[in-house]
Amino acid sequence: TQSETGKLKRLYAQAGQLYHHILVNTKLGQPALDHLHERGLSDELIAEFQLGYAPQAEILQAFFHEKKLDDYQTLRKSGLFSEREGEDLAERFNDRIMFPIRDQTGSIIAFSGRLLTPDKKLPKYLNSPEGILFNKRKVLFNFDKAKKTIRHESKVYLFEGFMDVLAAWRAGIKNGVASMGTSLTSEQIYLLEQTASKLYICYDGDLPGRKATKRALELIAPLSKFDLGAILLPEKLDPDEYVRKYGPENFKDFVTSHERTELEFYLEYFRVGRNLETESDQLAYITDVLEKVAQVKDPLARDLTLNRLAKEFELDKNNLTSQLQALMQQVQ
Ligand code: CTP
Ligand code: MN
Ligand code: MN
Ligand code: MN
Ligand code: MN
Repeated sequence: TQSETGKLKRLYAQAGQLYHHILVNTKLGQPALDHLHERGLSDELIAEFQLGYAPQAEILQAFFHEKKLDDYQTLRKSGLFSEREGEDLAERFNDRIMFPIRDQTGSIIAFSGRLLTPDKKLPKYLNSPEGILFNKRKVLFNFDKAKKTIRHESKVYLFEGFMDVLAAWRAGIKNGVASMGTSLTSEQIYLLEQTASKLYICYDGDLPGRKATKRALELIAPLSKFDLGAILLPEKLDPDEYVRKYGPENFKDFVTSHERTELEFYLEYFRVGRNLETESDQLAYITDVLEKVAQVKDPLARDLTLNRLAKEFELDKNNLTSQLQALMQQVQ
């Protein structure tokens, strides 16, 4: 119900303020604050995103009591505590850097907590459970702040993670959002389609990131009218690591000068793991690329790719064209 969502949003707003206060103003938060400083985040950025810290201590219940927000059923259902009936409320987030996740209007609807101290038995990021406020499939991190610039430039960059969005923001890229992992959903695409005409995937430069880029392109292409592309980061870096290694300005330069079209992405992607000196790998590569070309609607883009293939492998373009036509008939 309306009042239930209202209550939960008030809890989340208050919890967000408390976690932020602990991070920036208390001794308990100092190690987490040092960690964020070491990763290049300024106090201004930390405040702008209201990053926080959930310590290894039970603090929320007393705090909510003081705020007169301590209705037991609401607390139990909030996802900020373990949900076991009849038990004492134990806090869900311990020793984690807290990233508020907001809806389109900017209200906090969930948190994601990153472990400060690495632990093999615990997940690096822990999210609020899904519920009446939070449906992970429908949320993009930073969409609330980014949508103004996304609209204005009619362009959006899609990153994997929180730190990537923040790194891009430092570099002046304010139209970046994160899918919070590599499993992009059709709901998220729909959200973006309402706001922009160009979408660039900028996932991590590692192999999982590249595979996820291909999956994302394959999901989006048949589903939307987006002018689609991808940015491939070098040396297996993610955007946050790139910014820390080369600086924010160089990241922005890299991104704006490496916006590749879908086909350019596939020309690169299908090289991975192949030895293009050998004839069998050449044939497999050309076949993979042509299958992608067959799905592309823009005839000019198709023609450009055929020219490239013909040139690189010293082939007769007429052969490639008839191959492509055969494939396109299969697709239809
Ligand atoms: N993620 C998650 N749960 C995990 C791991 C990752 O929800 N156990 C999501 C987070 O939103 C994370 C994104 O997937 O930001 C990308 O994951 P990954 O590349 O592994 O983490 P980074 O964002 O690079 O994390 P960091 O730089 O803080 O180490
Ligand atoms: Mn410091
Ligand atoms: Mn990753
Ligand atoms: Mn990463
Ligand atoms: Mn990272």
